[in-house]
Amino acid sequence: MARPIIEPFRIKVVEPIRMTTPRERRRLLEEARFNLFGLRADDVIVDLLTDSGTGAMSAEQWAAMMRGDESYAGAKSWFRFESVVQELTGVPSVFPTHQGRAAERILCAVSALSGKVVLSNGLFDTTRANVEGSGARGIDLPVRERGVAFGGNMDLAAFASALREHAGQVAFVVMTVTNNTVGGQSVSLENLRAVSNLCREAGVTLFLDACRFAENAFAIRRDEPSERHRTLRAIAREMFDLCDGFTMSAKKDAIVNIGGILGVRDPALAEKIRVELIRTEGFVTYGGLAGRDLEAIAQGLEEVLDDSYLEYRFAASGYLARALERVGFEVVTPAAAHAVYVDAGAACPHLAPGDLPGQSLACAFYLAGGIRTCEIGDLMFGSSDPPRRQLVRFALPRRVYTQSHVDYVGAVAEDVARVRDKLPALSIVEEAPSLRHFSAAMIARSPFPDL
Ligand code: F0G
Repeated sequence: MARPIIEPFRIKVVEPIRMTTPRERRRLLEEARFNLFGLRADDVIVDLLTDSGTGAMSAEQWAAMMRGDESYAGAKSWFRFESVVQELTGVPSVFPTHQGRAAERILCAVSALSGKVVLSNGLFDTTRANVEGSGARGIDLPVRERGVAFGGNMDLAAFASALREHAGQVAFVVMTVTNNTVGGQSVSLENLRAVSNLCREAGVTLFLDACRFAENAFAIRRDEPSERHRTLRAIAREMFDLCDGFTMSAKKDAIVNIGGILGVRDPALAEKIRVELIRTEGFVTYGGLAGRDLEAIAQGLEEVLDDSYLEYRFAASGYLARALERVGFEVVTPAAAHAVYVDAGAACPHLAPGDLPGQSLACAFYLAGGIRTCEIGDLMFGSSDPPRRQLVRFALPRRVYTQSHVDYVGAVAEDVARVRDKLPALSIVEEAPSLRHFSAAMIARSPFPDL
């Protein structure tokens, strides 16, 4: 018998899960006005809202937290953080920030963006908001192929022509690994090398949005034949070597609950960042973080490139993808490590994109089993022409849930699948001017079926 891939850890600290009843959940969902961000986490049974900051730290990370040196300047924890990040990335100037979006904001603040464009394989929404808030336009140029390895790649022909069209106007280029906005698909090393070459020829700087760099490195080794015999560390290092700098939310592959990093090679840019960091985050040797956070990040970055951890991580999301497919849901393939994305438009063909099928399906998973997921469709981004795919993201926190939790999600999915053609349309009744999905209030135009 083929041996299963097991969770490569034991559990020493547990958090109880509060069970809720379907009746209770119906009331709670109405009180939250059909917005899952409005629920209390205590009213959620399996929380798959995000993989960001929700991971379980290791015993070594907790031990490192106790060693945290909280000195204002020159703390021991800073020197450990700096050397671990430099060794991993080869980038000389690194700055701790309170999370990824702070690193993005500082990069944008020091980059003279007004009237420029930023080209990308897919800007994450906070990156886009920071770019556009600084007066530049963000342009996404992902490949169009679906269902193939490396669906997160940059479309090289479109990229080369955008570099020509916007010559002199490109502030910088961002490669997001993995590409969260296109179903968490990974980027090949071949594609990254080609983008890097085109940037060098055009004299444009290239930044990596590196928050899921380790998961991307694993996909490269698995799916890119020329890379099969390399270590994950060597692959990750080459990803950074191809860039002029990076932003990183440490809440993902550094497996901590808070933190971010900005790294650059150019000493002149580093000097500007130092000034901005001190003005808005904190002194250069702690940035937006406590000494204990720097320790936890350093330790997390040392742990994440472990083969058995990443093998388990992909096995877990693959297992969830199969559980959802088995009961008839269409999922984005190949499944990303950090999340499985379900096509809600295909699941609910009676609903138009404007009826918010993704949010209706996400609400149904909550009603049926207390599972919290995240809509990635018209609620998040507004309507588009041509209409975008209406997705629901089932994100997997790192080292938190076991296989039986995923089996539970599969069983709930079976109940939801039975009524998916009866799920109601939702209408927004209140919304904020930007990033509306966090706070929009909705109503169901007809009642949800019994779940
Ligand atoms: N870049 C990517 C690709 C991300 O996925 C995120 C966050 C950020 C940057 C911003 O980092 O949250 O530390 O400020 N993604 C989370 C998610 C929120 O749920 O996918 P942050």
